[in-house]
Amino acid sequence: MEKDIERILISEEEIQKRVSEIGAAITRDFRDKDPVFIGVLKGCFIFMADLMRYVDVKCSMDFMAVSSYKGTTSTGAVSIDKDLSQPIEGRHVIIVEDILDSGVTLNYLKQYLQVRKPASITIATLMDKPSRRKADIYADYSCFEVPDAFVVGYGLDYNQRYRNLPYIGVLKEEIYS
Ligand code: IMP
Ligand code: MG
Repeated sequence: MEKDIERILISEEEIQKRVSEIGAAITRDFRDKDPVFIGVLKGCFIFMADLMRYVDVKCSMDFMAVSSYKGTTSTGAVSIDKDLSQPIEGRHVIIVEDILDSGVTLNYLKQYLQVRKPASITIATLMDKPSRRKADIYADYSCFEVPDAFVVGYGLDYNQRYRNLPYIGVLKEEIYS
């Protein structure tokens, strides 16, 4: 796997430090609100597992699976592959996402969940690529702002591979071109 990585963009240590800060901020902001964290599979799974251990409030967790991305280019179409297992009416929802890129996925998801009348919807993302934004959406909590490069690792994939890299790396262009 390592030979397919051009460079490490964010190291394991940097990730842990920043995720702990975001966990502390959520802890401050959601005390006594009993939020429900909604992880967007599959990309969220490592970030969410780490983040939740830094969140010291009573809360619940649920997961959705959404697909919108084929290879390295967003298709623009979003489909719900797995829906929530619990109602969210009246709950404070925190969506946990791996990366906010064009914003098409989260924009769709936010509207999809809004219909169920949650008390609030907050977005927590590991990475934000604001240069590529198409939809009018922003992250309330973002661990890292990243340049317009295709990144993998720490949950993020290229064609379902590289999710298990412990850091975030830039994929060599020859791998996807
Ligand atoms: P958006 O709808 O364009 O914001 O795309 C969001 C989804 O595309 C993310 O949840 C990721 O699954 C995927 N994605 C966007 N950029 C990257 C990347 O650099 N590496 C891996 N996946 C990415
Ligand atoms: Mg994703």
